[in-house]
Order: sequence, then C-alpha cells, then structure tokens
Amino acid sequence: MSQNRIYIFDTTLRDGEQSPGASLNIHEKLEIARQLEKLNVDIIEAGFPISSPAQFDAVKIISDEVNAVIAALARAKEVDIKAAYDALRSAKRFRIHTFSSTSDIHIMGKFGDARYGKNLTEKRATVIKMSQEAVAYAKTFTEDVEFSAEDAGRTDIGYLAEVIEAAIEAGAITVNIPDTTGYTFPSEYGKKIAQLKQRVKNINQAIISVHCHNDLGLAVANSLSGIENGARQVECTVNGIGERAGNASLEEIAMAIKVRGDLFDYYTNINTKEIYNSSRMVSSYTGIIIQPNKAIVGENAFAHESGIHQDGMLKDRNTYEIITPETVGVPKTKIVLGRHSGRHGLKARLIELGYTLTENELQKVYESFLTLADKKKEVFDDDLRVLMGDQSHQSEQDLYTLDYLQINMGTFSIPTATVKIKSANGYFQESATGDGAVDACFNAIERALKINSELTSYHVRSVTSGRQALGEVNVRIKKGNHFYTGRGISTDVIEASAKAYIQALNQFKIAEKMKDEESKQNSLSELSQAV
Ligand code: KIV
Ligand code: ZN
Repeated sequence: MSQNRIYIFDTTLRDGEQSPGASLNIHEKLEIARQLEKLNVDIIEAGFPISSPAQFDAVKIISDEVNAVIAALARAKEVDIKAAYDALRSAKRFRIHTFSSTSDIHIMGKFGDARYGKNLTEKRATVIKMSQEAVAYAKTFTEDVEFSAEDAGRTDIGYLAEVIEAAIEAGAITVNIPDTTGYTFPSEYGKKIAQLKQRVKNINQAIISVHCHNDLGLAVANSLSGIENGARQVECTVNGIGERAGNASLEEIAMAIKVRGDLFDYYTNINTKEIYNSSRMVSSYTGIIIQPNKAIVGENAFAHESGIHQDGMLKDRNTYEIITPETVGVPKTKIVLGRHSGRHGLKARLIELGYTLTENELQKVYESFLTLADKKKEVFDDDLRVLMGDQSHQSEQDLYTLDYLQINMGTFSIPTATVKIKSANGYFQESATGDGAVDACFNAIERALKINSELTSYHVRSVTSGRQALGEVNVRIKKGNHFYTGRGISTDVIEASAKAYIQALNQFKIAEKMKDEESKQNSLSELSQAV
C-alpha cells in the first residue's frame, strides 16, 4: 500500500444530511450512495442508526445494495453500537464509527452529571474509559472500527493524545480528529496532527483521519494541512454541505490533491469525472443550491467573462484555466431533450446523469417529462434532475395532491385563489384572499384542509434560464415543535408554491399518522401485558 494514498470518507449522508433544511428520504439516500460508489469514494458514512427508525432503515438498505465500505455512526454507548451493527450487518464490508467528546467545554457541558465524576479530572478519566469500552465492544462485531474525538480541535493536546492512545489500544484502526466547530487555523490544526504523531506511541497502528467544519471557511485548508502532517483519511461531503457552515468539500479536496501533485505528493482514488453529476444530484435531492462561484462545481467555475480572459483562453486555455471542465465531468455541450426524444432517449440520459430507475419510476418521470416538454420546447439536464427530485420527494403515503388552481389578481384587485385538492376520500375545494397570489393560495389550501401552520421559510429558484424555465419552490413550515419541508416544481411559480405547501402538509400528516400508529401499538402491548 502506498504511503501517499489518501482515503476519502464521504459523510454526505450523515453529517451532510444534518444541514439545515436538507432531509433526504430513503430512495434519495440510496441513489446518492450509488452515485458515491461511481465517484469511487473509499467509505460511505450512511447515517446514525440509533437516531431514528428512518436513519436505521437507510443504513440498512444502503448496506444491502451498495458495495463500498459502509460506515455508521454510534455514540460511545452499547445501544448505539448494537444498532449500528444491526443496520450494517448485511454489508459486504462495513465500519462502526464511534465517538466521544473530548474538549473540556464538551465534557463539562455533556457530562455535567456527577455520575461521570466529581470534577474535570474524574470526568476526563470517565471519557477515556467509555471510549475504550465502546471501541472494544464495536470490535466484537468487526475489525474495522473508527474512533472520533469530538471537538478535538479545541481539546488540550496532552489529553487528546491520551484518549487517542487508549482508543488504539482498544482496537481502533482509524482515529479521527474532528475540528467540530471549525475553530482552528490551518497551521494550528496541522500542528495538532503532527503532535499526535509524535506523542501517541501506538499511532502507527492506526490511520489518522481529518474531519473539518467550515465555520471560518477553513475546512478544506485545514484538511490539507492535516494531510501534510500525517493524516491519510479525509472526511468530507459533496458540495461541502453539513452542520451550520458545512464540512470540507469533497470535490475541492480531491481536485486540490490532483491539480497540485507537483507540490503535494498524494493521490486519491476519486473518479473525478463523476464529480459534476454527484454535485448536481446532491443539490437537487437536498434542495441546497450551489453558490455560482463555488470552487469546482459552481455555475461560474469555468466561465470566463472579461475580454482579456476570453482572449487569453482562445489563444491558450492554460492562461486562465487550471482544471478543464471535462476533468470534473462538466458536459462539453448542453444536451437538450424534447417531446420527441421518447422514453428510451429519456432513460438513456437519466442513466448518464447517474440515476437508477425501475420501469415504474421511468414511467412516472416520463409522464412528468411529457407535461414539461409540452410547456417548454427544450428540456435540459437540470430540468431532468429537478423532475427526478420532485418525483422522489412525492411519497406513496401522500394524502393530498393539487388537482386544480385558479388565481384572480391584478394591479388594483385583491388577489383571490381557489384550490381543489384531491385525497383518497374525495375532493376539498375552497377560496381565499391574501396579500399576494402566493398568500391567497396558501390561505385557500389551509381553509380547504382545515390545517394551519407557521411558514418559516419560502424559496423560489429558476432551474434553467428562459421564459419557460422551471420554477422550484421550497417551503418549510412549523407545527408545534416540528418542522416539515415541501418542494414543488412547475413552469408557473404560484402552482409550484401550492404544490410545495401541500407537500409540507403531507409530511406533517404522515408524521401524525405514524405517531398515532405507534401509540396504538404501545397501548395494545400494554394491554396484552396487563392480561
Ligand atoms: O464534527 C464532528 O465532530 C462529527 C463527529 C461525530 C465525527 O461529526
Ligand atoms: Zn462533523
């Protein structure tokens, strides 16, 4: 094994999915995992199984279907580790990733209870013991155990070295040093990795991993500094999505390593030609838009605007281009489909874009494609991605769908909306006025379904350019202490808004139904115990 190979541990489906507003359903997670396999990442962290039944099921299904090494997260607790194992056990190769907090701030905040020790010294000793026990327990299920020292970025180096040594002694073969709060500077973070290499006597028995958050915009720089100082695994996400300001971006790390081979003698096994498809798929499924000037995958990453640059590019591309668009899989020409492209043409293009489709899914997306192609002569790749995202977001369990929408408005009249909503029990129809067309429409939906909610966010974006561009609307609503999201697309933004709002209400209704079923189940089992 070469010393200079850098392992890519992708955590888009775990840390990335913790991005505000990004919630992926099982189908979307599986599609992304398949795409990550094409991208050739070394390890896919598929989720945190103990955290919810949906997370457990997603890890399980990915373990069943995808061949890469699948990892799952677990706190340093037996129940978590057992749940991770149960979700992973069908995978061909899997890793249990367990973690404990190690900074004083975290220890005092999370382990304040006296049962963890009377003071910081005792609590620190408890954390070491818990970490060792967790690794040893995980080892009973697999050889491949990773240990993370949460908030290592703000952990005292002497104590951090003790924790890491203990984790390796217990059997961890990868030790991860997260800068959980994105607090460190590259020189500081790199030094931490170098110090661990010096101080931890069994460090050669494990791979050092870096996991950097982007709160100060330094996640990628810190990760590269970690590599320069001895780390051989990088934890990162597609498009850099993740908690708060996100994680280190996979595409930036992979391309920095590839482009600067002259300076930086390392390599990854990433298939860079799959970067663009991966980036677009993650964006359309999560609804998290890529900023235009984002390195490597932003809309403007390869656009040359000024005359001097354009002139230079025409004479010699190397004047202003350090990466060719083809290296990261940006298509050279825009492929356009239309009404006459047919089912086969559509299927072939979707496969090229990285999607896997059953016949049933193909049929559904083909119907939406025909409706779109009727309104819009040219259908671009981005339109297709949005159709796929829209289709996968609709759930079989959805109770309501928009059947009809009528808006009356003008410069001097009060906007009025009439909606007709279809459900399994028939139709609901209502009209309402509002401050604008969208408000009127939401009021009419609430009146028809007799539900109201607090709208906490509303975003519209145009998917492709032109007058007939598809509009995508994302909404987030609050009911009690819970948030629900919905997405709608249409060439008409008011219709897209209505669909998005109905979808968010569907999410709320599905959650309510699940709660009811759970409590019925609980009372039945209480009853049977009483009998
Ligand atoms: O940022 C962090 O510390 C994490 C750990 C759980 C690895 O995501
Ligand atoms: Zn993290």
